[in-house]
Amino acid sequence: MRDILAARRGEEMALNDRYLNPQLGRILRTLGFDRVWTGAEGAHLIDSEGRRYLDLFGGYGVFAIGRNHPAAIAAVREVMEAHTANLPQLGVTLLSGVLAEQLLARAPGSVGAMVPANSGAEAVEAAIKIARAATGRSRVLFAEHAFHGLTLGALSLNGNSEFREGFGPLLPDCEAVPFGDLDALERALGGANVAASAGTMAGGVAGAGVPTGGEVASGGEVAAFVVEPVQGKGVNLPPPAYLQGAQRLCRAAGALFVCDEVQTGLGRTGRFLALEHWGLEPDMVCVAKALSGGLVPIGALLVSRAAFDRVFDGMERAVRHGSTFGGNDLAAAAGLATLKVLEEEGLVGRAQRMGTLLLELTRPLIDRYAVVRDVRGLGLMWAIELGPPEGRLGRSLWGGLERAQPGLFAQLLTVPLFHDHRILCQVAGHRMNVIKALPALVIEEAEVRRFAAALEEVVASSERMPSALTRFGSRLAVGAVRAR
Ligand SMILES: Cc1ncc(COP(=O)(O)O)c(C=O)c1O
Repeated sequence: MRDILAARRGEEMALNDRYLNPQLGRILRTLGFDRVWTGAEGAHLIDSEGRRYLDLFGGYGVFAIGRNHPAAIAAVREVMEAHTANLPQLGVTLLSGVLAEQLLARAPGSVGAMVPANSGAEAVEAAIKIARAATGRSRVLFAEHAFHGLTLGALSLNGNSEFREGFGPLLPDCEAVPFGDLDALERALGGANVAASAGTMAGGVAGAGVPTGGEVASGGEVAAFVVEPVQGKGVNLPPPAYLQGAQRLCRAAGALFVCDEVQTGLGRTGRFLALEHWGLEPDMVCVAKALSGGLVPIGALLVSRAAFDRVFDGMERAVRHGSTFGGNDLAAAAGLATLKVLEEEGLVGRAQRMGTLLLELTRPLIDRYAVVRDVRGLGLMWAIELGPPEGRLGRSLWGGLERAQPGLFAQLLTVPLFHDHRILCQVAGHRMNVIKALPALVIEEAEVRRFAAALEEVVASSERMPSALTRFGSRLAVGAVRAR
């Protein structure tokens, strides 16, 4: 590997264009983001010139403990050198059992079993299947603007048309409800009956009085409501009491309440799981991303014992769901090391402190700049939402950008952040004027301050020189449209 990394350095873009995703290559060139990345450490990426960039993408949130954490690397190396009896298949292994034990010890008492997986989407697929089999119902509710992954089942719970388009028909009986709207959820769950019994029935599958795990019944009642505690696309926070209300309504309707913590879990929001902010007790919790320190693909579904036992309810049903690499030793070792690092370095509390500081430094921008509509976040899941500037000229330039490509303004601000300030960050979703940050939880206070200052500088200059921005925007729009 050392030979390949040294001898072929600089060929990344050409290889990508030839064999991987040339349209992504065009976007990178258009934005000038086509750096040769040669190293990474903590909250930073390092390019071939040795320049360090503050990485606020965080690999879509996998690097909670920081990139290339020595403890995670050592754990993977140790387990490889131990020549363990990995993946016996008709057999069980120690490390995935210990990982399940440790994850469940940190999760609410409502979950008591783990289904190992290799990605966030795979954990969501498991949740859909287990909800259907455990309840004998087929309908699955999800929130508008939700993102649960891009495999076909998870995509059926996707609240954004740009991801869904062209891949249908998706799973039947999956239905969107507006995020934050309990009345709409209640109607979708079955209306008046649910309202009458909400709060009075015993929880989850155990109290649901639903058929035992036979074939899925067609149509009708709801198997599960799957929701991100904080939505990743746009960093949308739930209204107060929404998630508790949703859980109560689900219980009353005999539907399973599923929290997708793939992005919010592992300390990201200042709690180990975001659900702790609201004292939730879901029937299932999906985790992935940061769980293995960004080193090894991983995912896991934490499931209530009752739901689990309804699905895996006899020896002939013991392997009815799973995947070849699920629970492998490398992923489990990296997962165990990550849990230890989170605790030893106090990273959950740090996420909360740094997130509070970031909000304190950036919320004043709402009053200072007309283009800043909102700044929001929880822990180190942060976003700034932008809107049209004041004045006729500004508004007409904004309109032009939006016509060329919705969300272009936010994308334009990421360019000077990258080139002038060496900060890599992302727009929070397609056609969205929202910039988002998911830094490593190890981020230093000085770097949080540097980001806030850089952000203010690019926002201020976008208001001072809207026409320069628009010229660049038009070039970008042409590039981006062609790149599609
Ligand atoms: C909330 C949520 N669920 C599921 C997924 C899918 O995870 P993966 O990309 O590992 O399949 C993501 C990925 O961004 C996510 O943010």
